[in-house]
Amino acid sequence: MKPAGLRWLLVLCVSHAVAWTHISEDRLRTALDENEYTLVAFTHPGSDACTALETEWISLQKTSKDPNIISFDCGKDLGSCRDLDVASYPAIRLYRRDGSIIRYRGDRKAPRIHTFLNRSLRPTVREVGVNQVTPLLGDDDVVFIAHLPAGDVLRDRFRALATKYHDQYSFILSGPLKGLSIFQCVNNIDEEEHTLTDFSTVNSLEAFVKLCSAPLIPELTRRNEAEYMQKGKSLLHYFFSSEAEKDKYRSEMRPLAKKYAEYLYFTLTDVNEYPEMLKLLGQKPGSKTGLSLQNPNTGDVFPFRGKKKITPQVVEQFLDDVIEGKIPSVSTGPGKGHDEL
Ligand SMILES: *[C@@H]1O[C@H](CO)[C@@H](O)[C@H](O)[C@H]1NC(C)=O
Repeated sequence: MKPAGLRWLLVLCVSHAVAWTHISEDRLRTALDENEYTLVAFTHPGSDACTALETEWISLQKTSKDPNIISFDCGKDLGSCRDLDVASYPAIRLYRRDGSIIRYRGDRKAPRIHTFLNRSLRPTVREVGVNQVTPLLGDDDVVFIAHLPAGDVLRDRFRALATKYHDQYSFILSGPLKGLSIFQCVNNIDEEEHTLTDFSTVNSLEAFVKLCSAPLIPELTRRNEAEYMQKGKSLLHYFFSSEAEKDKYRSEMRPLAKKYAEYLYFTLTDVNEYPEMLKLLGQKPGSKTGLSLQNPNTGDVFPFRGKKKITPQVVEQFLDDVIEGKIPSVSTGPGKGHDEL
């Protein structure tokens, strides 16, 4: 066989190897009845989001080697899915033998789902001695730690917080830290830590959860856009058109985002979902990527017009150029000038 033909055959085999292995309705019932826990992906052949989940789910099954992670094809047996109240696809759910069901709402990526499973199988709050906290800090993307003396009323507030957010974050309760009552959190994705010592305001704990869990480089949506526009900082928008590009930008720009955090938000916008944002931010309509600095206070918008690939060095140079006035502002806000597009 010619090498090209061989390669073609290999490609065929590889793509064949990564396909859903759905289980039958009988085995689904048995699993839900008998397993201590079962993590199920309910899929439907008509859904693109299910197709996107396929490789992630297979990778999850492979790396975890956990037979309790299964998938079920609702296209084949809609009745069973209806019986289980599955109405949209894909649905990812953790069933416990005690009858509890936890719905997974996060990113449909293998490591994130694995983290969710690990977290869900641990107690809602782990109580440990002060010396035993450190080894647990890497167990989750976001970990909250309360250092409180026995009998402190804040312990109950911490437990209530854990009950509310246990599906998303991990919670550790321990004794006072060098005599201090203090809350700490670790965000392992962005490698950031925060502490809280003032518990006097009503929503101090909720605000702390928000502070620790907010991604350093957030993705803008219709729901959160206004919030970021009103914080008084400039926004450095990056347009992406695939999850892979988004992840790459996030990990490459993290150090820069920290460096400029006092003045700027690095944000992400999905061009496929918000194509109208391109023009508003001085980019060519129809572009697949782009970078624009926006100052919501003045209405100024500085689009990056360079031809170079957008790397941290290129971004930093662009920011310097804007600061030095080398880049003209376009598409200004209400009451200010013209629109050059
Ligand atoms: C989940 O837990 C297993 C067993 O403790 C561990 O080997 C694995 O690294 C954990 N995975 C994630 C993503 O947390």
